[in-house]
Amino acid sequence: MYHKAVLLQESVDGLDIHPDGIYVDATFGGGGHSRYILSKLNEEGRLYAFDQDEDAKKNAIDDPRFTLITANFRFIKRFLRVYGVQKVDGVLADLGVSSHQFDEKDRGFSIRFDGKLDMRMDASSKLTAYEVVNSYEEKKLADVLYLYGELRNARLIARKIVSVRKEKPIETSFDLKNILQSFLPKRKENKVLAQVFQAIRIEVNQELEVLKEFLEQIPDLLKDNGRLSVISYHSLEDRLVKRFIKNGMFEGEPEKDFFGNIEVPLKKVGKLIVPSTEEIAENNRARSAKLRLAIKTV
Ligand SMILES: C[S@@+](CC[C@H](N)C(=O)[O-])C[C@H]1O[C@@H](n2cnc3c(N)ncnc32)[C@H](O)[C@@H]1O
Repeated sequence: MYHKAVLLQESVDGLDIHPDGIYVDATFGGGGHSRYILSKLNEEGRLYAFDQDEDAKKNAIDDPRFTLITANFRFIKRFLRVYGVQKVDGVLADLGVSSHQFDEKDRGFSIRFDGKLDMRMDASSKLTAYEVVNSYEEKKLADVLYLYGELRNARLIARKIVSVRKEKPIETSFDLKNILQSFLPKRKENKVLAQVFQAIRIEVNQELEVLKEFLEQIPDLLKDNGRLSVISYHSLEDRLVKRFIKNGMFEGEPEKDFFGNIEVPLKKVGKLIVPSTEEIAENNRARSAKLRLAIKTV
Protein backbone atom coordinates (compact mmCIF):
# COMPACT_ATOMS: atom_id res chain seq x y z
CA MET A 1 0.00 0.00 0.00
CA TYR A 2 1.28 3.45 -0.93
CA HIS A 3 0.11 5.16 2.26
CA LYS A 4 -2.64 4.73 4.84
CA ALA A 5 -4.36 8.06 5.48
CA VAL A 6 -4.09 9.40 9.04
CA LEU A 7 -6.97 11.14 10.88
CA LEU A 8 -8.97 10.78 7.68
CA GLN A 9 -12.47 11.52 8.94
CA GLU A 10 -11.45 14.12 11.50
CA SER A 11 -9.34 16.17 9.06
CA VAL A 12 -11.84 16.10 6.18
CA ASP A 13 -14.98 16.49 8.30
CA GLY A 14 -13.22 19.47 9.89
CA LEU A 15 -13.32 21.22 6.51
CA ASP A 16 -17.13 21.28 6.80
CA ILE A 17 -17.36 20.62 3.08
CA HIS A 18 -19.86 22.40 0.82
CA PRO A 19 -20.70 19.84 -1.88
CA ASP A 20 -20.28 22.43 -4.65
CA GLY A 21 -17.15 24.03 -3.20
CA ILE A 22 -13.54 24.25 -4.35
CA TYR A 23 -11.02 22.38 -2.21
CA VAL A 24 -7.27 21.81 -2.13
CA ASP A 25 -5.41 18.75 -0.86
CA ALA A 26 -1.89 20.17 -0.58
CA THR A 27 -0.26 16.76 0.08
CA PHE A 28 -1.86 14.19 -2.23
CA GLY A 29 0.44 11.17 -1.57
CA GLY A 30 -1.63 8.01 -1.96
CA GLY A 31 -4.78 10.09 -2.30
CA GLY A 32 -6.62 8.82 0.79
CA HIS A 33 -7.74 12.27 1.89
CA SER A 34 -8.48 13.35 -1.68
CA ARG A 35 -10.80 10.39 -2.28
CA TYR A 36 -12.73 11.15 0.86
CA ILE A 37 -13.05 14.83 -0.06
CA LEU A 38 -14.33 13.86 -3.53
CA SER A 39 -16.93 11.59 -1.96
CA LYS A 40 -18.41 14.66 -0.29
CA LEU A 41 -18.54 16.84 -3.42
CA ASN A 42 -21.35 17.00 -5.98
CA GLU A 43 -20.82 17.46 -9.73
CA GLU A 44 -20.09 21.15 -9.31
CA GLY A 45 -17.42 20.62 -6.65
CA ARG A 46 -13.72 20.71 -7.51
CA LEU A 47 -10.59 19.32 -5.89
CA TYR A 48 -7.04 20.47 -6.72
CA ALA A 49 -4.30 18.32 -5.24
CA PHE A 50 -0.56 19.03 -4.95
CA ASP A 51 2.38 16.69 -4.53
CA GLN A 52 5.98 17.52 -5.31
CA ASP A 53 6.86 13.84 -5.72
CA GLU A 54 6.48 12.45 -9.26
CA ASP A 55 5.71 9.04 -7.72
CA ALA A 56 2.37 10.36 -6.45
CA LYS A 57 1.19 10.72 -10.06
CA LYS A 58 0.55 7.00 -10.24
CA ASN A 59 -2.25 7.45 -7.71
CA ALA A 60 -3.97 10.24 -9.68
CA ILE A 61 -7.75 9.91 -9.51
CA ASP A 62 -9.65 9.57 -12.75
CA ASP A 63 -12.46 11.99 -12.03
CA PRO A 64 -13.46 15.15 -13.97
CA ARG A 65 -13.68 17.08 -10.69
CA PHE A 66 -10.06 16.29 -9.80
CA THR A 67 -6.75 17.90 -10.86
CA LEU A 68 -3.32 16.78 -9.65
CA ILE A 69 -0.60 19.41 -9.73
CA THR A 70 2.94 18.04 -9.44
CA ALA A 71 4.49 20.96 -7.62
CA ASN A 72 5.55 22.21 -4.24
CA PHE A 73 2.71 23.67 -2.20
CA ARG A 74 4.92 26.65 -1.36
CA PHE A 75 3.64 27.98 -4.71
CA ILE A 76 0.00 27.14 -3.98
CA LYS A 77 -1.53 30.45 -5.03
CA ARG A 78 0.58 30.76 -8.13
CA PHE A 79 -0.34 27.28 -9.43
CA LEU A 80 -4.02 27.63 -8.60
CA ARG A 81 -4.08 30.88 -10.58
CA VAL A 82 -2.89 28.91 -13.61
CA TYR A 83 -6.16 26.98 -13.29
CA GLY A 84 -8.16 30.19 -12.87
CA VAL A 85 -8.68 29.63 -9.14
CA GLN A 86 -8.31 32.67 -6.87
CA LYS A 87 -10.28 31.63 -3.79
CA VAL A 88 -11.14 28.26 -2.28
CA ASP A 89 -13.49 26.88 0.36
CA GLY A 90 -10.94 24.72 2.13
CA VAL A 91 -7.33 23.55 2.22
CA LEU A 92 -6.03 20.35 3.77
CA ALA A 93 -2.36 19.54 4.40
CA ASP A 94 -1.12 16.22 5.77
CA LEU A 95 2.52 17.16 6.18
CA GLY A 96 5.73 15.22 5.92
CA VAL A 97 6.68 12.04 4.15
CA SER A 98 4.45 9.21 2.91
CA SER A 99 4.94 5.55 3.85
CA HIS A 100 5.84 4.98 0.20
CA GLN A 101 8.72 7.44 0.46
CA PHE A 102 9.92 5.85 3.72
CA ASP A 103 9.73 2.37 2.22
CA GLU A 104 11.66 3.13 -0.97
CA LYS A 105 15.13 2.09 0.07
CA ASP A 106 16.93 4.15 -2.54
CA ARG A 107 15.42 7.39 -1.39
CA GLY A 108 17.31 7.16 1.87
CA PHE A 109 14.54 8.40 4.20
CA SER A 110 14.49 5.39 6.49
CA ILE A 111 16.88 4.12 9.14
CA ARG A 112 15.61 0.62 8.34
CA PHE A 113 17.26 0.28 4.92
CA ASP A 114 20.68 0.92 3.53
CA GLY A 115 20.05 3.45 0.78
CA LYS A 116 21.84 6.38 -0.85
CA LEU A 117 21.74 9.52 1.24
CA ASP A 118 19.13 11.37 -0.78
CA MET A 119 15.91 12.30 1.14
CA ARG A 120 14.52 14.63 -1.53
CA MET A 121 10.74 14.55 -1.83
CA ASP A 122 11.13 16.29 -5.17
CA ALA A 123 13.76 14.32 -7.06
CA SER A 124 14.48 17.30 -9.33
CA SER A 125 15.55 19.61 -6.51
CA LYS A 126 19.26 20.22 -5.98
CA LEU A 127 20.10 19.66 -2.33
CA THR A 128 20.44 16.04 -1.18
CA ALA A 129 21.17 14.46 2.18
CA TYR A 130 24.57 13.48 0.75
CA GLU A 131 25.50 17.13 0.35
CA VAL A 132 24.23 18.11 3.79
CA VAL A 133 26.23 15.30 5.42
CA ASN A 134 29.36 15.58 3.29
CA SER A 135 29.74 19.27 2.54
CA TYR A 136 28.03 21.40 5.18
CA GLU A 137 30.59 23.05 7.42
CA GLU A 138 30.60 21.73 10.96
CA LYS A 139 28.79 24.66 12.55
CA LYS A 140 26.01 24.60 9.97
CA LEU A 141 25.60 20.83 10.35
CA ALA A 142 25.43 21.18 14.12
CA ASP A 143 22.75 23.86 13.78
CA VAL A 144 20.67 21.61 11.52
CA LEU A 145 20.92 18.73 14.00
CA TYR A 146 20.15 20.97 16.95
CA LEU A 147 17.31 23.00 15.46
CA TYR A 148 15.54 20.33 13.41
CA GLY A 149 16.47 17.18 15.34
CA GLU A 150 16.36 18.79 18.79
CA LEU A 151 19.55 16.85 19.60
CA ARG A 152 21.32 18.18 22.65
CA ASN A 153 24.67 16.72 21.59
CA ALA A 154 24.35 18.11 18.04
CA ARG A 155 27.78 19.72 18.18
CA LEU A 156 29.53 16.44 19.05
CA ILE A 157 27.63 14.51 16.38
CA ALA A 158 28.56 17.13 13.77
CA ARG A 159 32.21 16.96 14.82
CA LYS A 160 32.23 13.19 14.46
CA ILE A 161 30.61 13.33 11.00
CA VAL A 162 33.15 15.90 9.84
CA SER A 163 36.10 13.87 11.10
CA VAL A 164 34.89 10.66 9.43
CA ARG A 165 34.11 12.27 6.08
CA LYS A 166 37.67 13.68 5.89
CA GLU A 167 38.79 10.10 5.32
CA LYS A 168 36.03 9.02 2.96
CA PRO A 169 32.61 10.40 1.93
CA ILE A 170 29.60 9.10 3.85
CA GLU A 171 27.59 7.45 1.10
CA THR A 172 24.60 5.60 2.55
CA SER A 173 22.12 5.64 5.40
CA PHE A 174 23.88 2.68 7.04
CA ASP A 175 27.27 4.45 6.76
CA LEU A 176 25.74 7.31 8.70
CA LYS A 177 24.09 4.96 11.16
CA ASN A 178 27.40 3.20 11.85
CA ILE A 179 29.20 6.47 12.49
CA LEU A 180 26.60 7.45 15.05
CA GLN A 181 26.79 4.24 17.11
CA SER A 182 28.67 5.84 19.99
CA PHE A 183 25.93 8.49 20.38
CA LEU A 184 23.06 6.02 20.66
CA PRO A 185 21.99 5.28 24.21
CA LYS A 186 20.88 1.69 24.79
CA ARG A 187 17.22 1.07 24.00
CA LYS A 188 16.97 4.59 22.51
CA GLU A 189 19.06 3.86 19.43
CA ASN A 190 16.21 4.27 16.98
CA LYS A 191 14.83 7.37 18.64
CA VAL A 192 18.12 9.25 18.34
CA LEU A 193 18.73 7.97 14.81
CA ALA A 194 15.25 9.06 13.80
CA GLN A 195 15.99 12.54 15.18
CA VAL A 196 19.18 12.76 13.11
CA PHE A 197 17.41 11.57 9.97
CA GLN A 198 14.49 13.92 10.59
CA ALA A 199 16.84 16.87 10.95
CA ILE A 200 18.59 16.13 7.67
CA ARG A 201 15.29 15.54 5.88
CA ILE A 202 13.86 18.86 7.09
CA GLU A 203 16.97 20.64 5.84
CA VAL A 204 16.98 18.87 2.46
CA ASN A 205 13.34 19.73 1.80
CA GLN A 206 13.40 23.11 3.58
CA GLU A 207 10.27 21.90 5.29
CA LEU A 208 9.82 24.65 7.86
CA GLU A 209 10.46 27.50 5.43
CA VAL A 210 8.07 25.92 2.95
CA LEU A 211 5.39 25.44 5.61
CA LYS A 212 5.66 29.10 6.61
CA GLU A 213 5.35 30.30 3.01
CA PHE A 214 2.35 28.03 2.54
CA LEU A 215 0.56 29.18 5.71
CA GLU A 216 1.14 32.85 4.87
CA GLN A 217 -0.84 32.40 1.64
CA ILE A 218 -3.82 30.71 3.28
CA PRO A 219 -5.72 33.75 4.61
CA ASP A 220 -5.78 35.35 1.18
CA LEU A 221 -6.63 32.09 -0.57
CA LEU A 222 -9.59 31.15 1.62
CA LYS A 223 -13.06 32.55 1.04
CA ASP A 224 -14.82 34.01 4.09
CA ASN A 225 -15.58 31.10 6.42
CA GLY A 226 -13.25 28.89 4.37
CA ARG A 227 -11.38 26.30 6.40
CA LEU A 228 -7.86 25.05 6.94
CA SER A 229 -7.06 21.55 8.20
CA VAL A 230 -3.42 20.68 8.96
CA ILE A 231 -1.95 17.41 10.22
CA SER A 232 1.63 17.66 11.45
CA TYR A 233 4.02 15.00 12.73
CA HIS A 234 6.55 16.79 14.87
CA SER A 235 6.59 19.65 17.32
CA LEU A 236 8.49 22.05 15.05
CA GLU A 237 5.75 21.93 12.42
CA ASP A 238 2.95 21.90 14.93
CA ARG A 239 4.34 24.97 16.68
CA LEU A 240 4.30 26.95 13.42
CA VAL A 241 0.73 25.90 12.62
CA LYS A 242 -0.48 26.65 16.13
CA ARG A 243 1.16 30.06 16.31
CA PHE A 244 0.01 31.08 12.84
CA ILE A 245 -3.60 30.21 13.65
CA LYS A 246 -3.44 32.00 16.99
CA ASN A 247 -1.48 35.12 16.04
CA GLY A 248 -1.31 35.29 12.25
CA MET A 249 2.49 35.24 12.61
CA PHE A 250 5.26 32.83 13.65
CA GLU A 251 7.29 34.92 16.08
CA GLY A 252 6.35 37.59 18.58
CA GLU A 253 2.90 38.90 19.37
CA PRO A 254 0.50 40.72 17.04
CA GLU A 255 -0.17 44.40 17.64
CA LYS A 256 -3.31 45.33 19.51
CA ASP A 257 -5.68 48.00 18.22
CA PHE A 258 -6.91 50.98 20.24
CA PHE A 259 -9.39 48.75 22.09
CA GLY A 260 -6.83 46.05 22.88
CA ASN A 261 -8.14 43.64 20.26
CA ILE A 262 -5.93 41.77 17.87
CA GLU A 263 -6.95 41.19 14.30
CA VAL A 264 -5.90 37.76 13.09
CA PRO A 265 -7.10 36.31 9.79
CA LEU A 266 -7.82 32.78 11.05
CA LYS A 267 -9.65 31.52 14.09
CA LYS A 268 -9.13 28.10 15.53
CA VAL A 269 -11.96 25.60 15.33
CA GLY A 270 -12.19 23.21 18.26
CA LYS A 271 -9.23 21.81 20.12
CA LEU A 272 -6.13 19.98 19.02
CA ILE A 273 -7.12 16.54 17.68
CA VAL A 274 -4.91 13.45 18.00
CA PRO A 275 -5.56 9.91 16.74
CA SER A 276 -7.41 7.40 18.88
CA THR A 277 -5.52 4.52 20.48
CA GLU A 278 -7.27 2.22 17.97
CA GLU A 279 -5.93 4.21 15.03
CA ILE A 280 -2.41 4.20 16.46
CA ALA A 281 -2.61 0.44 17.08
CA GLU A 282 -3.60 -0.06 13.43
CA ASN A 283 -1.20 2.46 11.95
CA ASN A 284 2.03 3.27 13.73
CA ARG A 285 2.61 6.29 11.45
CA ALA A 286 -0.33 7.97 13.20
CA ARG A 287 1.31 8.01 16.62
CA SER A 288 2.76 11.51 16.43
CA ALA A 289 -0.02 13.12 14.35
CA LYS A 290 -1.64 16.35 15.48
CA LEU A 291 -4.56 17.95 13.69
CA ARG A 292 -5.45 21.63 13.90
CA LEU A 293 -8.45 23.26 12.24
CA ALA A 294 -9.09 26.93 11.54
CA ILE A 295 -11.66 29.15 9.82
CA LYS A 296 -11.06 32.38 7.90
CA THR A 297 -12.64 35.20 9.82
CA VAL A 298 -11.61 38.57 8.39
C1 LIG B 1 1.92 12.24 4.69
S1 LIG B 1 1.95 12.16 2.95
C2 LIG B 1 0.27 12.47 2.50
C3 LIG B 1 -0.58 11.26 2.42
C4 LIG B 1 -1.97 11.50 1.90
N1 LIG B 1 -2.74 12.38 2.73
C5 LIG B 1 -2.69 10.18 1.70
O1 LIG B 1 -3.81 10.05 2.21
O2 LIG B 1 -2.16 9.29 1.06
C6 LIG B 1 2.69 13.66 2.47
C7 LIG B 1 2.83 13.85 0.98
O3 LIG B 1 2.99 15.23 0.75
C8 LIG B 1 4.02 15.45 -0.16
N2 LIG B 1 4.63 16.73 0.22
C9 LIG B 1 5.30 17.02 1.35
N3 LIG B 1 5.71 18.31 1.33
C10 LIG B 1 5.26 18.83 0.16
C11 LIG B 1 5.35 20.11 -0.43
N4 LIG B 1 6.03 21.11 0.16
N5 LIG B 1 4.77 20.32 -1.62
C12 LIG B 1 4.09 19.32 -2.25
N6 LIG B 1 4.00 18.08 -1.74
C13 LIG B 1 4.56 17.83 -0.55
C14 LIG B 1 4.97 14.30 0.00
O4 LIG B 1 5.65 14.08 -1.23
C15 LIG B 1 4.00 13.15 0.35
O5 LIG B 1 3.60 12.44 -0.78
